[in-house]
Amino acid sequence: MDTFPVCSYNEWDPLEEIIVGTIDGVSVPVLTHDMKTFIRKEYWDFYREHGGKPYPIDMVKKAAQALDNLQHVLEAEGVTVRRPDSVGYAHHVFKTPYFASTGFFNADARDVLLVVGDEIIEAPMAQRCRYFEFMRYRSLIQEYFNQGARWTAAPKPKMCDDLYDWDYPEDDMSFFRGEGGVPDHVGPLNGRFITTESEPCFDAADFTRFGRDILAQRSHVTNDLGIQWMQRHLGSEYRVHTVKFRDPGPIHMDATWVPIGEGRVLSCPPRPCLSPDILEMFEKARREILYPPPGVADAEFHMSSRWLSMNILMIDEERVVVERSEEPTIKFFKELGLKTILVDFKDHYVFGGGLHCATCDIRRRGTLKSYF
Ligand code: ARG
Repeated sequence: MDTFPVCSYNEWDPLEEIIVGTIDGVSVPVLTHDMKTFIRKEYWDFYREHGGKPYPIDMVKKAAQALDNLQHVLEAEGVTVRRPDSVGYAHHVFKTPYFASTGFFNADARDVLLVVGDEIIEAPMAQRCRYFEFMRYRSLIQEYFNQGARWTAAPKPKMCDDLYDWDYPEDDMSFFRGEGGVPDHVGPLNGRFITTESEPCFDAADFTRFGRDILAQRSHVTNDLGIQWMQRHLGSEYRVHTVKFRDPGPIHMDATWVPIGEGRVLSCPPRPCLSPDILEMFEKARREILYPPPGVADAEFHMSSRWLSMNILMIDEERVVVERSEEPTIKFFKELGLKTILVDFKDHYVFGGGLHCATCDIRRRGTLKSYF
């Protein structure tokens, strides 16, 4: 049924329309205490120096090209691609009654918007610099709304100081251990997060859709109250399951547990699933858990691990969009019998996002099903 302008229940049904993010106007986020869990330590000096200012123009141009490449590749596969507005406020300080901040960007649409069925949910977010990111999707969302989509903005947090754990030790913010397939180390802080439970918060990318079942990860940017909000909001038609991975600094699930079809999910080798109930759910349904090889792209990673290699986009169960230089991953997919669609995208990696992060499915041809 494709009479709905917005309709998507999982990550693999045949893709008809998608949003690809826009990078223009991106601004270097200020290195606040909570942002230290998001930005890799090696780059803290850069963020100390440039916070609140534009990124070097060359870096932005290359990422913009990567996003355009993705648009063209998807269009060549018959997918309709929409883009959000450029950021206009970039380096302006904005103020709410509770805080002041400069902005960041809106290239990773996956973090901001969650489509469940015919509904678009704007995530509340948890980082002050991303507070107003939803605004840049409003012209698109309103268009979808005019065509009949349901549109919800999850409660915006106050994001006052209570939302953050100011005592979270900096020494334990080296969250991307486990590079290159080296077994991760479960830090003493596993289970402690930079966000508290003072009010609900979440990023949309901490939710992964499997029809009636939606997995949710408690992360630095998604708290238990945010997950509860989602369950109560979606109601009894959906089951929202909290899932835990061996990840001392979780932020977004889509380089950790990534479905590539009804029967298969990719699991990031150094970040295995630690929830027995979820593992049992996948086993009982005879879903295959696959372990992809590590990423190899010659790129900079300010805000993520190299595992963006597995942050892929399924066009349908047969076709997977993969970054062109991720040769081991490409080989891995070919051996699984998938058709790999290659795109030059590694220049966007520096901003923390892969192919899945930088997009948001608007319409996939399919119906609401129970896979478990
Ligand atoms: N935290 C993940 C990693 O470092 C990256 C996830 C990016 N996802 C996103 N939606 N921005 O491997």
